[in-house]
Amino acid sequence: MAKKDLGASGIIFPGAVLLIGTYDENGNPDVMNAAWGGQCGPKHIAMNLSQHQTTENLEKKNAFTIAFGTVESLVASDYVGMVSAKKEPEKVKKAGFTVTKGKNVDAPVISELPLSLECKVVSMGKDPATGEIRVVGEIVNVIADDCVLTDGKVDMGKVNPIVFDGSSAGYWAIGKRVGNAFHEGAALIK
Ligand SMILES: Cc1cc2nc3c(=O)[nH]c(=O)nc-3n(C[C@H](O)[C@H](O)[C@H](O)COP(=O)(O)O)c2cc1C
Repeated sequence: MAKKDLGASGIIFPGAVLLIGTYDENGNPDVMNAAWGGQCGPKHIAMNLSQHQTTENLEKKNAFTIAFGTVESLVASDYVGMVSAKKEPEKVKKAGFTVTKGKNVDAPVISELPLSLECKVVSMGKDPATGEIRVVGEIVNVIADDCVLTDGKVDMGKVNPIVFDGSSAGYWAIGKRVGNAFHEGAALIK
């Protein structure tokens, strides 16, 4: 089969739809959408952020939450990636989100979304080449609604998350579970 070079692009799929929740110094909540992020260790998350209200909040509070955008919250999830709290102080309310303060971190937990992480900032550093900010956080707690649990474990089929496709700037839903990790490959071990 012929292969074509398409140049450098951020095409890794699926991308995340991470909804980063923070408070400003006056306790006003903000939520932003981030695709450039993911798990980078058993309990750690890495994100690449430009300068936003969110990054100012992270610098002040050293804490954030992550909620996962879902099919049901797609419009609100996209909205919080299009509008800054710097311009729209009522952003979280306009998204239709209500929040409560996390029990473990000084950051807002979105009531309407079924799965959230409470995180502490471990490090924030500016990329000298691009000026973008690389944030590493530690996950200190996972909060799940009862309705997305099966036998006490998070069931992604019930969360119904959306994922980001950087090649076409699209959102996708996730399909079905097709195998067991660290198990299926055993078929080739002799
Ligand atoms: C699908 C999507 C993905 C995004 N991913 C990122 C990202 O990874 N990093 C980033 O800095 N901004 C990203 N943004 C842009 C921010 O979410 C946007 O600038 C937002 O308005 C910032 O809000 P704030 O100023 O209230 O913090 C993304 C937006 C969308 C719609």
